[in-house]
Amino acid sequence: MKKIIVIAILSLLLFACSENSDKVSQSSDKISAVDEPNTEKIPTPGGEPPPYDPIRGTGKFSHVDIGNNLDVTMATGGEKIYTARCSGCHKLTDERLVGPGWKGVTTRYKPEWIMNFVTNTDEMLNKDPKAQAQLEICLVRMPNQNLEDVDARQLLEFMRKNDGAK
Ligand code: HEC
Repeated sequence: MKKIIVIAILSLLLFACSENSDKVSQSSDKISAVDEPNTEKIPTPGGEPPPYDPIRGTGKFSHVDIGNNLDVTMATGGEKIYTARCSGCHKLTDERLVGPGWKGVTTRYKPEWIMNFVTNTDEMLNKDPKAQAQLEICLVRMPNQNLEDVDARQLLEFMRKNDGAK
């Protein structure tokens, strides 16, 4: 019986405490409510994140230099990577295999987009409307390929070659 009384007293105390802290937070709520019109005008530090750029995509590449002419050495390197790691899902024609055929891919997307997509596939699939449209058609989510930057650049050159760059 004593125990029950002790517990009852303890819980009463607890209740009283929490009620108190409620009051405190309520009153600080009121203070911030009064302050609100002012804080609205002050921009948040750092501002909003920049909106998604569908031309460039998202990832580490914001500017990719492509030459006027094809870099044959890079294209050959890219072809090797394609054969080993991409050809199971991508044809070089416009025909879909698991993923879209690569013919015309360099006219559909900017070099930055392609390099960001192949090195940052997951985030691009989460954010890019064109990539999501392909996902809806293909019904397979392209797995991240863990490519090095240089691999991505060589693959881009091979795609350019496939699209007729000389
Ligand atoms: C397991 C299959 C698979 C593999 C392997 C794969 N891809 Fe993909 N890829 C896809 C699918 C599917 C899509 C369409 C988007 C989606 O559904 O995720 C795609 C889309 C793409 C696109 C955009 C094409 C477009 O027209 O929209 C590029 C570029 C691309 N992949 C490059 C690569 C490269 C480079 C490799 C090899 C390093 C590779 N992929 C390996 C399945 C794959």
